[in-house]
Parts: sequence; structure tokens; C-alpha cells
Amino acid sequence: MAILSVEELEKSFGDRQVLRGISFRAEEGDVVSVLGPSGTGKTTMLRCLNALERPDAGRVAIGSVSVDFRHASKKEVRALRRQSTMVFQNFNLFRNHTVLENVMDGLVYGKGMTRAEAEPLAMEELARVHMEQAAHLYPAELSGGMQQRVGIARALAPRPEVILLDEPTSALDPELVGEVLDAIRKAASLGITMIIVTHEMRFAEQISTKVLFMAEGRVVEEGPPQQIFHHPEQEKTRQFLRRMLEREQEG
Ligand SMILES: Nc1ncnc2c1ncn2[C@@H]1O[C@H](COP(=O)(O)OP(=O)(O)OP(=O)(O)O)[C@@H](O)[C@H]1O
Ligand SMILES: [Mg+2]
Repeated sequence: MAILSVEELEKSFGDRQVLRGISFRAEEGDVVSVLGPSGTGKTTMLRCLNALERPDAGRVAIGSVSVDFRHASKKEVRALRRQSTMVFQNFNLFRNHTVLENVMDGLVYGKGMTRAEAEPLAMEELARVHMEQAAHLYPAELSGGMQQRVGIARALAPRPEVILLDEPTSALDPELVGEVLDAIRKAASLGITMIIVTHEMRFAEQISTKVLFMAEGRVVEEGPPQQIFHHPEQEKTRQFLRRMLEREQEG
């Protein structure tokens, strides 16, 4: 049974169509990496899955909630939003809340827990990403890598059906990337389904159970990492991978 199913998702901004009929599925525990050139609609797709953007058409089912966006009520869209959490490129932590409060918020406001119930669970998630010492600090007191580890703890804490990560390491200095990738590996090892937009090709190859290659608002090719990275069938995929590889070698 698919835990996530996306069918014919379409989204335009003004007269610019950004998503042109995106369809794919993820099974429970899948780690799906999404690759593709800049401006292709990867962020827009993740935001649609979390209902931060409303698609013009298409269907998304996550866990027990299924929404047809042509007809969906606000209530149905809200229910869909609660099925997933996001990890953002720029962390998006609440600046006036401590680290601990940032992780507790989703448990208290999203899950209706008391603060007494939420706190030990939040501390457990912070310990998982080695941030328990920083529980009472504010985001501005942390490095980017530490902020993103908090972002991962915050996304994990409510145990959503799916975690959506949008280029979680691309705003970091190179020496801080490893600690965040380790935190993502830990989250994956819990068996939580994840969709990760990333330019970290080697990491994507190691961690993914499935890879999607997107271009111009469509899924051009999808398959297991072995296939997409070593035997891509589409010329567009081959060109993209060649460019990424050259860039990695230059850097
Ligand atoms: N809120 C918005 N209003 C208008 N246009 C938008 C909006 N959000 C995204 N776009 C446009 O949609 C297109 C796809 O953007 P998106 O951010 O989804 O691409 P992306 O694949 O995530 O790119 P990148 O790899 O650079 O992050 C771009 O042309 C972008 O300018
Ligand atoms: Mg993006």
C-alpha cells in the first residue's frame, strides 16, 4: 500500500504553468530523492504536498487522507497538511522561541498534547540529533547546521506519515553539511517516509530507495538509485547528471 500517492498535480502562477501533471507514489519507509534543474518546480511540488500552496488540479493521498484539489474543502486541505511536516532550506525556526519550544510547538498545537507531555518527547528528538544541550538557546545563537538539526527534530517529533525536505543542506557552509546528512540518515533509519529535494548526489544515491528526476514541471524519469545514477534511460537525465558531476569535481 502506498503511503503517499500523487496524481496529475498541476499548478500555475499567473499564466506560468509550473507543475504539468506530476504523478508518483511512495511506499511506507521509502526515501524518495527529487532531482532536477533550478526552476523546475521541485519546491512548488513539496509545498503542494504540504498544502502550503494549493494546486489547481490533481489528487494527493497521504496515509488515510485523500484530497482531490479541484473539489477539496478547506477542511480536507487542512487534514492533508497535518499528514506531513517540512524541513526548509533556510530552517524557518521561530526566532523568538527557544530550540525546545520550536520542537514542542507541533506537539502542543498540532497534536493537542499538554506541555508536560510534549517536553520529554521533544527532548528525546533533540537528543537524537545531538542538540539536547542547546534546548534553551534561541535559533540566532546556533550555527546553520545546528539550526537545521533542530528543524529535523521538529519535523520528526509529531511522527507524521511523511517528512518533506527541501534542499536541507544547500544553505550551509560545506563543513556543516555532514552533521545534517547524519541527522537525516537517523530519521530515515526510524522507517519514516521521506521526500528529499537535494543536490547532494552521493547522499541521494546512498540513502534513497527511489529517485525522481524532474524537469519543466514533469517527472521525466523515476527508478531505484542504481538505475537513475548509473543507467538513466532519458537523455535529459543523462545531461543533468553529467553537469552535476562536473560541478562536484570543480568544487
Ligand atoms: N509564489 C510564486 N509566485 C510566482 N511564481 C512562483 C512562485 N513560486 C515559484 N514560482 C515560480 O515557479 C517556478 C518553479 O519554482 P520552484 O521554486 O518550484 O523551482 P525549484 O525546482 O525548486 O528550483 P530551485 O532548484 O532553484 O530551488 C519558477 O519559475 C518560480 O519563479
Ligand atoms: Mg527549490
